[in-house]
Amino acid sequence: MNTTEAIHSRQTAKVLADSPWAPSLTPDEQEQLREHLLNLAAKAPYHYKSAERYKTGGQTSSLPFRCYTLDGATCNTLATKLETLSPPPGKIQNMLWAAELLIITTWLPDVFGTQPERREMEPLPFVGNLRNMEHIAATSAAIQNMLVGATAEEYPNYWSSGGVLRQEAARKILEIPMEEIMLGAVFIFPKDALERASQIMPGKLREEGKALESFSKKVTL
Ligand SMILES: Cc1cc2nc3c(=O)[nH]c(=O)nc-3n(C[C@H](O)[C@H](O)[C@H](O)COP(=O)(O)O)c2cc1C
Repeated sequence: MNTTEAIHSRQTAKVLADSPWAPSLTPDEQEQLREHLLNLAAKAPYHYKSAERYKTGGQTSSLPFRCYTLDGATCNTLATKLETLSPPPGKIQNMLWAAELLIITTWLPDVFGTQPERREMEPLPFVGNLRNMEHIAATSAAIQNMLVGATAEEYPNYWSSGGVLRQEAARKILEIPMEEIMLGAVFIFPKDALERASQIMPGKLREEGKALESFSKKVTL
């Protein structure tokens, strides 16, 4: 599949399983897929480096985003842990049962002034300046690279806002700092998901607003 075909083929597929699925890939294959998609994320354009405050632990990158990955077995473990939380995970649990790989991507906002020691919420609303706009834009480009890359390899996929995964309780389990703002929980499903799933839901806005003249205008001078 070439790039144009992959972009045209990409579509939201919310794959719902009734119970945890056995992985379709070996651990080595899962790792290769993880590295492949992270490499595509790393190739996205970005304009501004992330603030120094985010360069902690091993994650010292100047990219304005961070990716947290869970293999299929870890997705199943997470699904079990989320069962006891309030609010309940809802369809996120069914998708975790189906997922071959989950890549949670956060962006790293520039913040100003004294910050709380402990955050219960992400720093929302964030400061609406140009740098933050471009941090989000760069992170979105990275996520789209991963979606298109997964599509090119014929893995059904879905960009979720995260639902319960955004909340403090889940963030503690996942060890994703509340200082970071979740932009996408990218679910990568097995290639045979279409045969195995009890239900697959498309994106609600799949067909909306696509007429070229409805979102573009020729500039004539
Ligand atoms: C930033 C972002 C967040 C999204 N979050 C959700 C979500 O939480 N739930 C959902 O059903 N779809 C979510 N989507 C997917 C959209 O619903 C989907 O892209 C849209 O309906 C168009 O369908 P398509 O992806 O098949 O083209 C999200 C998409 C984007 C770009």
